[in-house]
Amino acid sequence: MEERIAELRRLAEREISAAPSLDALERLRIKLFGRKGGAFTELTKSVATLPVEARPLNGRLLNEAKNSVTNLLETRHRELSRALATGPTAPQIDTTFPGRRPHIGRRHPLTLTMDLLCDVFLRMGFQVRQGPEIETDYHNFEALNMPPDHPARDMQDTFYIADDKVLRTHTSPVQIRTMLAERPPIQMIAPGRVFRRDSDLSHSPVFHQVEGLMADRGIHMGHLKGILQRFVEDVFGTGLALRFRPSFFPFVEPGAEGDMQCVACRGAGCGVCGGSGWVEILGAGMVHPRVFENVGYDPKKITGFAFGIGVERIAMLLHNVGNIRLFYENDMRFLEQF
Ligand code: DAH
Repeated sequence: MEERIAELRRLAEREISAAPSLDALERLRIKLFGRKGGAFTELTKSVATLPVEARPLNGRLLNEAKNSVTNLLETRHRELSRALATGPTAPQIDTTFPGRRPHIGRRHPLTLTMDLLCDVFLRMGFQVRQGPEIETDYHNFEALNMPPDHPARDMQDTFYIADDKVLRTHTSPVQIRTMLAERPPIQMIAPGRVFRRDSDLSHSPVFHQVEGLMADRGIHMGHLKGILQRFVEDVFGTGLALRFRPSFFPFVEPGAEGDMQCVACRGAGCGVCGGSGWVEILGAGMVHPRVFENVGYDPKKITGFAFGIGVERIAMLLHNVGNIRLFYENDMRFLEQF
């Protein structure tokens, strides 16, 4: 009996070490320990039939053999599993396959345009100033020479937050805030978001402006025209004229609207400019003496010019975009082109 136990143990150890696969190993386990007909199972039954004196020794030997073989089965199982995960039959990774591109964000075309405009004016010595988007009635209207019942307020259909708080309808109130806080010489621009109750193909209730102000002794309209012409050249290249058309804004006198020659047809007339050859891009003028008085400047000594440029209009001309709403629909097919 001792010899049979030792013999089975040797045989089991040899076969387990040689088992080529997890399947083969499982078949081996059943052959050795299966409830019906397993070699160790049968041997255990035989031990029970031995004479009483012979049982303890053979029982112990058999248990030792079973434990050892069971351990070996587990070890081999681990080996085979690991080989399966890393070996030549493991799932292969094709390192030449093109990777998945991470999605890279980009700046919005309006941000790009606003940054471009700021760069152009910074190079001409302007500094950036900022003001709040929720503005007081005073800064947005009154200090800019638009008293409460002034009809000019109708030019800018306003979102009121409270009786004296509005979503700013233009960036011009930043002129007021800057002049209240600083003394001449002043040469500032204010890029920002503005709000009006107005919405159609060429108007959005939210849009952007870059405001400009230069105030000092001896500033005149020639400075205004020169700086704005230079701005058009820096943004669109040479050869496009800028013209002033007389216009009215309560905070300037005289006031003008500025048209540039159409980028698409260079003045010949096309769909972009409605056949006129010109597109309006800004409002401007010489700061009204009453505005200077409102901020405590002496209009007999200080003169200045101001302008407000429509950022969307510039972006549309720069990139040949026909519909202002494209800037606000967040359509990736549009935004990814910039
Ligand atoms: N604030 C005006 C608007 O939103 C634009 C403007 C016109 C700004 C004349 C100015 C200016 O500074 O002088 O329509």
